[in-house]
Amino acid sequence: MTDFPADFVWGVSSAAYQIEGAWAEDGKGPSIWDTFSHTPGRVARGDTGDVACDHYHRYREDVELLAGLGVGAYRFSVSWPRWLPEGRGRVNRAGRDFYDELVDELLDRGIEPWLCLYHWDLPQALQDAGGWEARDTALHYADYAASVLSVLGDRVRRVAMFNEPNAAAVAGYLLGIQAPGTSDLTSFVAASHHLNLATGLGLQRLRSERSGLSLGTIVNLQPIVPEREDEEDRRAAAVLDAFWNAHHVDPLLYGRYPELTAGMFDDVIRDGDLETIAQPLDWFGLNHYSHHRVAADPASLYGLALVPPSDDAETTAMGWEVVPDALFDQLVALREKLGGVPIYVTENGAAFRDRVDDRGEVHDQARIDYLARYLRAVARARDAGVDVRGYFVWTLLDNFEWHEGYAKRFGLVRVDFETQERRPKASYDWYRRMIETRKIEDAAEAA
Ligand code: FCB
Repeated sequence: MTDFPADFVWGVSSAAYQIEGAWAEDGKGPSIWDTFSHTPGRVARGDTGDVACDHYHRYREDVELLAGLGVGAYRFSVSWPRWLPEGRGRVNRAGRDFYDELVDELLDRGIEPWLCLYHWDLPQALQDAGGWEARDTALHYADYAASVLSVLGDRVRRVAMFNEPNAAAVAGYLLGIQAPGTSDLTSFVAASHHLNLATGLGLQRLRSERSGLSLGTIVNLQPIVPEREDEEDRRAAAVLDAFWNAHHVDPLLYGRYPELTAGMFDDVIRDGDLETIAQPLDWFGLNHYSHHRVAADPASLYGLALVPPSDDAETTAMGWEVVPDALFDQLVALREKLGGVPIYVTENGAAFRDRVDDRGEVHDQARIDYLARYLRAVARARDAGVDVRGYFVWTLLDNFEWHEGYAKRFGLVRVDFETQERRPKASYDWYRRMIETRKIEDAAEAA
């Protein structure tokens, strides 16, 4: 008996800004992440995505690594300002050609492209016009989506509208730790709503212009745990659950915001918006890593504070608690919400302090254990009747981990950022075996 059926989709995920580099080459416009990382003090050690994994120039080698892994699917994102340097209007030919060739290369190797339209790198030109706080950005997004699919839609079927609009809103507009670095409740509410509106407008637009696409979107969902079982912390947990989990699920599925926070949106919602947002989804992408602990904090902007895991908790190098059961619970809860919409785990993985041995090898047993335990949670959820159809590891290559820079390594492949040399880790071989055997135990024995 295998743990997963033969048609289960195995993949890895990536994001343009984290791997491409070539930040100002061949006509690409700047994004909010270029601006953010070039601002002193924003990213650890002053790291930037200027070069990253130089994937823009080395994508053939990287597709080779994907083929060696045996994945059937590869999720990547298109950089909006590489496609449309001003965010609207003129298409950058070289940018278009890059994705065109990447898609062909993947298809040549029998790997299905899963194209994500937005993984956080908004064109700076649109930021200058208000960014996600401005309603027009959602309209420009729909035009951009249509432009990309008018070129790639003859070969790309799987399209994700957004990657983690919730993280973009919370980290970018509430906490201010990621681009554009705003920390303001009104901005957060407007950005959250316009990200949702863009999702709906994009879905409508692509459906009306092309048949045969399989359209979904990706949200990072994590159960929220109150630090103490008292009323204040439980309320803080309910608020964070709304901000993080519900704001980008409930409007899509039910055409409304959660009761607790719905009033906050009164000033930004216009007639018809909620109907526009609640478009049918062909699939739902779940990104999941851990759960969040939260406590009440009257001094903070929104009355709550994230609580780091206790000293004896098992954590990754990100400081995220390892809790495979949280993935199981999340999947089961999601089934209730989604009705019949199939789920793909579009991101799961872990950063660890990898050690390179004398032979230059990385025996990253901790990563293998993490992945195996989380995959077991996926298998259990399937046994419990949750319609999970695929799993994507975050990520193929060590890369630019946003405000944490290059120190946090998530890859199945080690990247030496001085030489750009790629070296598969033990987890790469493990995942290859996993895909081959579809049995968690067999893959573990081989590792
Ligand atoms: C997710 C992001 C992804 C990566 C992982 C570790 O929230 O979507 O780009 O940074 O976290």
